[in-house]
Amino acid sequence: MLSLRHLHKAYRDSGERPVLRDIGLELRPGDYVAIVGESGSGKSTLLNLIAGLELPDSGNILFEEQDLVLLDDNARTRLRRQRMGFVFQAFLLLPHLTVLDNAALSLKLNGVGHRESQQRAAALLDAMGLSAHVHRFPGTLSGGESQRVAIARALAHQPGLVLADEPTGNLDAGSASQVLRLLREQVKSRGSIGILVTHSSAAAASTDRVFRLADGILRPE
Ligand SMILES: Nc1ncnc2c1ncn2[C@@H]1O[C@H](COP(=O)(O)OP(=O)(O)OP(=O)(O)O)[C@@H](O)[C@H]1O
Ligand SMILES: [Mg+2]
Repeated sequence: MLSLRHLHKAYRDSGERPVLRDIGLELRPGDYVAIVGESGSGKSTLLNLIAGLELPDSGNILFEEQDLVLLDDNARTRLRRQRMGFVFQAFLLLPHLTVLDNAALSLKLNGVGHRESQQRAAALLDAMGLSAHVHRFPGTLSGGESQRVAIARALAHQPGLVLADEPTGNLDAGSASQVLRLLREQVKSRGSIGILVTHSSAAAASTDRVFRLADGILRPE
């Protein structure tokens, strides 16, 4: 369960207008939603708040019975590492690790042993059509392949919340639709909560519900 209540966020140098004003949202396991909005409307800011990477000026962020706003830094970091997965526009794979080691990273960071991490990551990469590439390094992969590895990494530790910020922004239409299909399949089959931030109406249409962020307010489309 993810519940955003009356979130408010302004940056000191963003002038009079807050980036986010009274944001509310309730999502349950299995919900997969998109957030759309103009560039600069605050989509990434909202994802950063949900991830506990930034704090709101006021409001609450309840996730799996904890309020991120009330946790101390260590507890917030732990909750993020254990229970959340991220997919970014720029993939952010580690260049000196193989595809398999990249995908196994979130498991190792959570204390899962080497062999089990590698086995679970390998199974996920296989499900994403990447079994032929497990020993390659990210620098040699296509954009679509890179993003599928990033999705495997984000999902390997079975997070309850998957946050994707423009995951298809750097992909051609074919790779984008494949990545969107896999992301949806993975979120749905695991009963995670999925939030996809995107500019693309095709990407938004791959989710169950679309919300638009405008003038600091989040509304259903
Ligand atoms: N750390 C910061 N300090 C000051 N202003 C910031 C900071 N981060 C974001 N902003 C401002 O907040 C507003 C929202 O930014 P944000 O990155 O959330 O937009 P976005 O909807 O993700 O845009 P895009 O679609 O281009 O990625 C912008 O005006 C941005 O300049
Ligand atoms: Mg953004």
